[in-house]
Amino acid sequence: MSFSSTWLDLREPVDHLARDPELLARARRLISDLPDARIVDLGSGTGSTVRALDLPDAHWTLVDHDETLLAEARRRSGSRTSTVQLDLREVSAIPLAGAQLVTASALFDLVSGDWIDALVERMTAAGIGIYAALTYDGTMKWNPADKADAAVRAAFNRHQQTDKGLGPALGPQAADYLASGLRQSRFDVSTAPSPWIFDAGHEALYAEMVRGIATAAREAGCTDAEAWLERRLDALPELNAQVGHLDILALPPA
Ligand SMILES: C[S@@+](CC[C@H](N)C(=O)[O-])C[C@H]1O[C@@H](n2cnc3c(N)ncnc32)[C@H](O)[C@@H]1O
Repeated sequence: MSFSSTWLDLREPVDHLARDPELLARARRLISDLPDARIVDLGSGTGSTVRALDLPDAHWTLVDHDETLLAEARRRSGSRTSTVQLDLREVSAIPLAGAQLVTASALFDLVSGDWIDALVERMTAAGIGIYAALTYDGTMKWNPADKADAAVRAAFNRHQQTDKGLGPALGPQAADYLASGLRQSRFDVSTAPSPWIFDAGHEALYAEMVRGIATAAREAGCTDAEAWLERRLDALPELNAQVGHLDILALPPA
């Protein structure tokens, strides 16, 4: 599945506001305390997580299959950042050697349960922690409410569970699945909500997002999606909405 840097740039300021500040601060402290720390960011895009964590001394390896996004990431990052073009389907090829932390943002809802099992197995064997931010949790809140909100959300969530290139995606179940797999492997797991909160000033992202939701809902068979989209765009001046995500920080067993 491909993502444009225009879309990633549009979402980044809202993503940064949404990330749970406590888990972000704990992930930063973990790395700040380590000399020559190495972090591997999965599905890095242009490096949003590098900018969110803002760790000037850390060595980053950014992994993505999209060379255009990786080139942009290199342009925006310092000399301590390297990139690896890789299809993440190959979990065994993810370069984890020497890393203390795996990070990802807005990635885990795209992956399958088998993919998470394979990644957790590798992280357990290597004793590496993970900071996974902004996994969509299936919830949406709209104000004013619309008669088609529930039908559109249900169809969108079904669409989120189709194959996005990494096996049948877990979509809204992904964060719970990841947290529970990590707990079973005796990681110390913390979770926190990180919703996108839309109010005045976020109109551009909101408009792109509702278009994307409507397209996916229509593809998943929702016949109300087009009319819902028109009403949601008409309601833009009264903008007040939330889309739920979950952040996870998990430290390996001592
Ligand atoms: C929603 S974007 C998030 C990007 C970035 N983490 C951020 O928060 O801005 C998902 C990212 O995963 C990457 N991706 C999706 N499927 C992939 C795959 N099979 N292998 C490698 N990267 C993949 C995309 O290219 C994209 O950069």
